[in-house]
Amino acid sequence: MSIVYLNGEFMEESQAHISIDDRGFLFADGVYEVVHLYNGRPFEWDCHIDRLYRSLNALKIAGVSRDDLVRARERLVADNPGREASLYIQITRGVQRRIHTPPTPGMLAPTILMWVRPVEPIDPQVVARGVAVITVTDDRWAKVWVKTIGLLPNVLARGQAADRGVYDAIFVRDGMVMEGTSANIFRVKQGVLQTAPVTNYILPGITRAVIIEIAKNEGYRVLEEPFTVDELYQSDEVFLSGTSTEVLAVTEVDGRRIAEAAGPVTESLLALFHERAQRS
Ligand code: PDD
Repeated sequence: MSIVYLNGEFMEESQAHISIDDRGFLFADGVYEVVHLYNGRPFEWDCHIDRLYRSLNALKIAGVSRDDLVRARERLVADNPGREASLYIQITRGVQRRIHTPPTPGMLAPTILMWVRPVEPIDPQVVARGVAVITVTDDRWAKVWVKTIGLLPNVLARGQAADRGVYDAIFVRDGMVMEGTSANIFRVKQGVLQTAPVTNYILPGITRAVIIEIAKNEGYRVLEEPFTVDELYQSDEVFLSGTSTEVLAVTEVDGRRIAEAAGPVTESLLALFHERAQRS
């Protein structure tokens, strides 16, 4: 039995009900965050909450108390003392009879849903071997930096990947590599790391920022500059970064072999990432 938080109350998951008039349900009018819990401690909480407020502000959703989120988190974490877990926060504009025009900010109580669920670490064999991906045309909107619950392009792209029997799909816009469906992407060439710059066309990943910091501390050069699909194919190493993905080697892109297994740079960054996660 699992307890979830919904609009100020804690309840059994089966008792948590959301209105058919919720704007999240009707219009995907809402935002979310996923925070990883290592030994019950949220990884980079402040960064996630800052990004959540940037998303809320983009949608002009008001009335969310930071302290309430912390209190809810503490209770949910206490109920789920596992070694690794995932905290999900979803906030929608609230409940209103279906009309496209959003109400004046502050007029509607947002719907706030949070849960903590255990997660299995990624299979170590997969981590060592790496995963295959395909590239797909990025047909998402122009505000990808907003972590909206409107994830249909991501879902459909992931479906395409699954149909092809690979792990993920990488969005490509105007020939440039953007990110995966739920992770950012890095390439390594001659010891230099490269990842798409933060623009409105990618989600500025918290893990991405941590990896850049760790890599720079280790003395790597990190370029936040656009790169092409051809450059991706010609990389020495490629990896994904994300809250649930951590640092995951990509060893095949569009059927082309990049490497036989996770490379040395990827492996060392993953080890340093784990150290930092355990310390946090
Ligand atoms: N996804 N890019 C996209 C499109 C994402 O959805 C995510 C995260 C990331 C990585 O961001 P971060 O390092 O902050 O997790 C990049 C979450 C985990 C999800 O949708 O489940």
